[in-house]
Amino acid sequence: MTHHEAALLAALADADEDRIVFDLAGIEARHDSLLRELPGVAVRFAMKACPLDEVVACLAERGAGADAASPNEIAQAIAAGVPVQRIHYGNPVKSDRSIAQAHRLGVRDFATDSREDVAAIARHAPGSRVFCRLATDGAGALWGLSEKFGCSAADAVRVLRAARQAGLTPSGLSVHVGSQQMTHEAWQRAFDLLTEALEALAGQGIALDHVNLGGGLPALGYLDGHGRPLDPPIDKIFAVIREGMERCARVPGHRLRFVIEPGRHLVADHGAVRAHVARLTTRRDAGGRPMRWLYLSCGKFNGLYEMDDVRYPLVFPTHPDGPRVPAVVAGPTCDSADTHTPGRPPVLVPEALASGDPVWVMSSGAYAVSYMSQGFNGFAPLPHRCVRGAGGSRREGAGPGEGGGPGEGGGYGAGGFRAGGSPGEAG
Ligand SMILES: Cc1ncc(COP(=O)(O)O)c(C=O)c1O
Repeated sequence: MTHHEAALLAALADADEDRIVFDLAGIEARHDSLLRELPGVAVRFAMKACPLDEVVACLAERGAGADAASPNEIAQAIAAGVPVQRIHYGNPVKSDRSIAQAHRLGVRDFATDSREDVAAIARHAPGSRVFCRLATDGAGALWGLSEKFGCSAADAVRVLRAARQAGLTPSGLSVHVGSQQMTHEAWQRAFDLLTEALEALAGQGIALDHVNLGGGLPALGYLDGHGRPLDPPIDKIFAVIREGMERCARVPGHRLRFVIEPGRHLVADHGAVRAHVARLTTRRDAGGRPMRWLYLSCGKFNGLYEMDDVRYPLVFPTHPDGPRVPAVVAGPTCDSADTHTPGRPPVLVPEALASGDPVWVMSSGAYAVSYMSQGFNGFAPLPHRCVRGAGGSRREGAGPGEGGGPGEGGGYGAGGFRAGGSPGEAG
């Protein structure tokens, strides 16, 4: 167990109500190890993955900037201490109004992927710098981002030429290989695209100053549908990225810096949800098959939005030993989509689980805070708490419901309950 895992487990053990906990020292360590793997790369934290002030601020203190997707994220990053020069507007989808707001806030770097967007940036953020996002196929990622964003290399030339004509600075290219990208080949394909576009741009006399490698670096702690570690080939991925950067840098006509926008990789494994057991039940389904279901207090709509696609390691701290039984794990709402990895093999859980027993959902720090509903079925968003390192000294979270409302919103079960068992019995 590493130092940082210990801090997270201590914070979970310390929680006697549901919450999401982040270990800032763990996030900082992941940031620092990323810089060791990719020396000289500028990190722009993809805020969408964990838009908590404490997280944005601790990364800013390490020198990271922010990849923001809206004026509100830009304003939050500035308030959290990110110098505005280190913030870019990384969303190719933006209205005139949003572009103007970002410009008023001081942002001068904009992602784009169309001439329509370029025209709007020229009008509402005159003189700014634009980088063009290339479309990738998303293959090999748990969440491919292939269709909605990006353009071909040939289009990127047209888009950046239009930017130059409109008085903007065509400054860079970007890619996103898809979130939780599990293959190094996807990175190779991305660098093929980048070098193709860089060569074509140089041919047009357009000299860029950076390449933005986007997100896609994986979390390391997820399980596959069978409960085995997902085990992304992270060393190979970093090796391919280093080689790819060298290839790009060799294309004549540009003087390139490299930027990366990690989200999941920085925060997933250093955040965990403290939930509790609603009920372990046994019943027959419509086909007459007996099945156990473990209903938790947290699910798709209050912290575990991605549970359709990924399995998180579960820890039952008050049941370290004893018989295990297979169960389908689900969240608490009246929506059958609120079920962990539907259709996948059941999870082995302690047979003796009782309502109220704590459950720790590990490696659940990415896209948890940002994807919480505002109280679907009355289940309130989880409060958060950030701790730092082994001592577990706390920086109190300011998340909705922190220390306040009942565990189950204002509806059924308002008034909450206490989780059973003594925290920290086992890990
Ligand atoms: C433009 C952009 N950059 C970075 C990210 C972060 O991706 P990841 O969490 O896979 O690192 C995203 C996520 O959707 C994104 O849209």
